[in-house]
Amino acid sequence: MKKNIVVAASGSGSNFKALIDAVQNGTLNASISGLIASREDIGAATFARQAGIPVYVLKSTTGETAPLLGTQLLEVLQRFEADLFVLAGFLRKIPDEVVEAYRDRILNIHPSLLPRYGGKGYFGIRVHQAVLNAGETKSGCTIHLVNEAYDEGRVLAQKVVEVLPADEPADLAARVLREEHKLYAPTIQQYLESLTD
Ligand code: GRF
Repeated sequence: MKKNIVVAASGSGSNFKALIDAVQNGTLNASISGLIASREDIGAATFARQAGIPVYVLKSTTGETAPLLGTQLLEVLQRFEADLFVLAGFLRKIPDEVVEAYRDRILNIHPSLLPRYGGKGYFGIRVHQAVLNAGETKSGCTIHLVNEAYDEGRVLAQKVVEVLPADEPADLAARVLREEHKLYAPTIQQYLESLTD
């Protein structure tokens, strides 16, 4: 039986699109059974609709009677029959009860060589800005398991990317992102093959 992957995204969704392509070209032998989108209008949701992948848009979690993020995630992961939960630019911290219920079944991609430039506050262009501010000559991307601490789960794969002297944060971001697109699908495939149930 093919495993079901559920993806969560908050942004443009280029990593999500790369996963859709990988399923279509056979690099990734799995089904993407749903997308969890932080908002209706994000790029990732458009890619999902174009590919016929069902989308769940998270309801607001602010306000006294609002549904909790953890409750929504658990409900929708079950509804999409998730075997693996893949974060692709999802900006919310995964609540502990979800980590607990999907222990070693949640993957994330991060645009630096963890443990460097990870943790709270290190997201998006800020990561690349910090790498440049520190005068690093190398950066890259990391795919890791998600545990209760931000960006600290076991590393599954990394790819080193050169930092060039004239780099602006956006240049470095684009160079790292190209490698993310190449690394995520094969890493997920390898991880799926390593699972025994
Ligand atoms: C990527 O850089 C990823 O590493 C980070 O968020 C970004 C998402 O980009 N977690 P996209 O939405 O896949 O284009």
